[in-house]
Amino acid sequence: MAEISYLRLLAEFRKRDNFAAVFRAALEDVAAKVDFSRVKSCLAFGTNSGEREMEFARRLLANLRSFTGVEPDPESASALRASFQKGLLPGVETLVVETSIQSWNGVGDHVDAVLLFNVLGHVDAKDREDLFQQLMRRYLSCGDLVVVCTDVCSVPSADVLLMERLGVQHVDYDKLEEEILDAGFRVVFKQDFEVRRDLSDPSDGVVKFVKMCAD
Ligand SMILES: C[S@@+](CC[C@H](N)C(=O)[O-])C[C@H]1O[C@@H](n2cnc3c(N)ncnc32)[C@H](O)[C@@H]1O
Repeated sequence: MAEISYLRLLAEFRKRDNFAAVFRAALEDVAAKVDFSRVKSCLAFGTNSGEREMEFARRLLANLRSFTGVEPDPESASALRASFQKGLLPGVETLVVETSIQSWNGVGDHVDAVLLFNVLGHVDAKDREDLFQQLMRRYLSCGDLVVVCTDVCSVPSADVLLMERLGVQHVDYDKLEEEILDAGFRVVFKQDFEVRRDLSDPSDGVVKFVKMCAD
């Protein structure tokens, strides 16, 4: 088992917030605004255990036939595999690739949708540019979708201010949107949601998670 597991520390951190509930509620709004019926294949980066990605797929991707998760943390990749083995995405052919966005060698075929949930902050600007170019040129075609979930740092929050004080470079949604538009995509739909997080009296796990982000 890895000495510092992103899987366990993220779980500790997320006990302090209502992200899961807010995300779940937001799916209903997305369902009302975006048609995902043509999505049969999906590629997701930085899934961790994949709970949010599977929830997204179960609620919105009714015609999904294949799902590939790309995740560098070994324990998180194992958790994702275990969820697939338990049948959490029934009727879907699944694959887990244990690697980072930067080292990923690609998939054989084009995909209909790409999920980037809370991962782009871990990737520097040049590597993001390469990723968006690859998605645009090799993996997606007209009408295909990239779904991004990320922090809005331009609205000051204790969480963002803490990370800034620790020297963690946050990338704001607006910056990502600019990069995505530069790569040739267009925005179909976007929505803000507000997550509450209480980091008072932090546990060891919370402190280790913040420290891991700052290292
Ligand atoms: C904050 S978690 C997000 C997990 C999940 N997508 C969610 O929204 O609940 C970030 C995940 O990205 C992974 N990650 C970190 N750097 C990455 C990289 N360079 N390429 C792909 N994934 C990365 C981490 O291991 C972690 O599982």
